[in-house]
Amino acid sequence: MYILAPSILAADFGKLGEAVKKTEDAGAAYIHLDVMDGAFVPSISFGMPVLSSLRGYTSQVFDVHMMVEEPGRYIEDIKKAGADLITVHQEACVHLDRVIGQIKAAGCRAGVALNPATPVSTLECVLDQVDLILIMTVNPGFGGQKFIPYTLKKVRTLRRMLEERGLQTDIEVDGGVTTENVRALMEAGANVFVAGSAVFKNDISGNVKAFMDIFKEQES
Ligand code: DX5
Ligand code: ZN
Repeated sequence: MYILAPSILAADFGKLGEAVKKTEDAGAAYIHLDVMDGAFVPSISFGMPVLSSLRGYTSQVFDVHMMVEEPGRYIEDIKKAGADLITVHQEACVHLDRVIGQIKAAGCRAGVALNPATPVSTLECVLDQVDLILIMTVNPGFGGQKFIPYTLKKVRTLRRMLEERGLQTDIEVDGGVTTENVRALMEAGANVFVAGSAVFKNDISGNVKAFMDIFKEQES
């Protein structure tokens, strides 16, 4: 099953609840929330208060992407703010195994993200412990960037590694995803698609539906 996870980073924050609800009504099962600390990535985005305010507007899966150094410090608080799925960067965790354990102990699904230059082989030891792997298809930190083509090969390699182990782990892609390149990403083995600009620019409902149509065409 293919899932769309609109990233609110590209939304109008003055009308955030309304915009998120539109994506839910049009068929997006997840909402992607980019938490940035100004240290792991240059930008600062938002944190727990925004997450908990939004929680009342939607029943979508809260897919929290932590672009934060040592995110283990915040797992409990992020869970309390409404997270269902918490994804941390391999590059930001000295003790990745421990942080994955913390996420699960908090009752959330655990995801691990990789920057474009980090090889998928780095996750070999934890593959069977995670629920989702996020392959960054741009350098994290900003919305509206261009998709980096070599990341497609990483998705393919990772899907093969998972299949060899009999795992059906979700592969999420994030950055520069559009209705133009989503088919290639699906073919490579990704099944959860983050899209910021491609969803929140202009007609939100129409943009979500365009992704949904592509998913349906592949599922039929
Ligand atoms: C980038 C964030 C993304 C971003 C995607 O660091 O992780 O989720 O919002 O935005 P687009 O789809 O515009 O590239
Ligand atoms: Zn993200």
